[in-house]
Amino acid sequence: MSHQVRAVVARGKGAPVSLETIVVPDPGPGEALVRIEACGVCHTDLHYREGGINDDFPFLLGHEAAGVVESVGEGVTDVAPGDFVILNWRAVCGHCRACLRGRPWYCFDTHNAKQKMTLLDGTELAPALGIGAFAEKTLVAAGQCTKVDRTASAAAAGLLGCGVMAGIGAAINTGNVGRGDTVAVIGCGGVGAAAIAGANLAGAAKVIAVDIDDRKLATAGKLGATHTVNSKETDAVEAIRELTGGFGADVVIEAVGRPETYQQAFYARDLAGTVVLVGVPTPEMKLELPLLDVFGRGGALKSSWYGDCLPSRDFPMLIDLYLQGRLDLDAFVTETIALDEVEKAFERMHHGDVLRSVVVL
Ligand SMILES: NC(=O)c1ccc[n+]([C@@H]2O[C@H](COP(=O)([O-])OP(=O)(O)OC[C@H]3O[C@@H](n4cnc5c(N)ncnc54)[C@H](O)[C@@H]3O)[C@@H](O)[C@H]2O)c1
Ligand SMILES: [Zn+2]
Ligand SMILES: [Zn+2]
Repeated sequence: MSHQVRAVVARGKGAPVSLETIVVPDPGPGEALVRIEACGVCHTDLHYREGGINDDFPFLLGHEAAGVVESVGEGVTDVAPGDFVILNWRAVCGHCRACLRGRPWYCFDTHNAKQKMTLLDGTELAPALGIGAFAEKTLVAAGQCTKVDRTASAAAAGLLGCGVMAGIGAAINTGNVGRGDTVAVIGCGGVGAAAIAGANLAGAAKVIAVDIDDRKLATAGKLGATHTVNSKETDAVEAIRELTGGFGADVVIEAVGRPETYQQAFYARDLAGTVVLVGVPTPEMKLELPLLDVFGRGGALKSSWYGDCLPSRDFPMLIDLYLQGRLDLDAFVTETIALDEVEKAFERMHHGDVLRSVVVL
């Protein structure tokens, strides 16, 4: 059996997305069919639409989602119909080199559904990040579903599926922020704001938010930034040093993805401090730094993919903190929209008007 549902499809490079009827197969072995309740609009969806990821059009967009498992295929034991789940793009294999060395967050063979979802004429769809959740239902590998407490709001919970997890994880997993640390976050969009919340959760003594947009700095303040710096008006490195007794921050998180902000992060950290790059650069970007400074300043220069998260470990824990009122996931939901408003949400994202627009079904 298969299901015909409405979904947001990107048919060609740069073309506006369209609402289409797609065909979703019943789950095969190891797969789960999920009824989507909410899905956030992420920059990566726009990158797909613009052909910036690859040319495998048509894409089924959407990947920051929460929903309810409707049915599961043969051999699925971790989730069952009726479970409220957050979808993830890191269903680890358990067998690859990284998994066997006990570092599954670097897994080289993550799972997606084997069967294809299609357009009505049979054309195969490429789901964004192996998810495709701007749809009433989607088909994923069962390992892409993480069961969490049903009482969480779907719009807030789904955001853990990508950008918010990337930011929180950049602070708590990759940056290893600890109690009493000084932390600076450069770029306070959805990801940077989440890094601020993460640093706060980890017990950072000072959390300095840096952005060129005062609206973002205002939200950063609500999420626990102790200081804000508008780097359009003030030199970011000088300001961070001044706020940290002249030393620089223990951990600086770059959440823009540009050489000049990376350079700020590099020089704004304390000697032997840590830089975490979570912003994603484009292929033509280059970084030039005196090698003597790389050596002489010591410490660690790290990149963070998906916040080095393990969905099975991190999602339920963060949802519990959310339900206890210790992590304000609702603050990331700027607006809720309908399935046919994704194109408008891309526009608002482009203008920096939102942390997240979330499609609610
Ligand atoms: N590593 C990962 O796993 C991962 C996951 C999701 C997103 N990302 C990346 O993280 C980055 C941020 O994503 P987002 O959703 O928060 O985007 P966003 O557009 O919402 O936020 C970017 C922020 O950076 C600010 N900014 C722009 N130029 C700046 C500058 N020169 N100095 C200081 N601030 C500046 C903007 O005002 C904005 O607030 C993107 O590059 C995105 O692709 C990475
Ligand atoms: Zn693996
Ligand atoms: Zn994303």
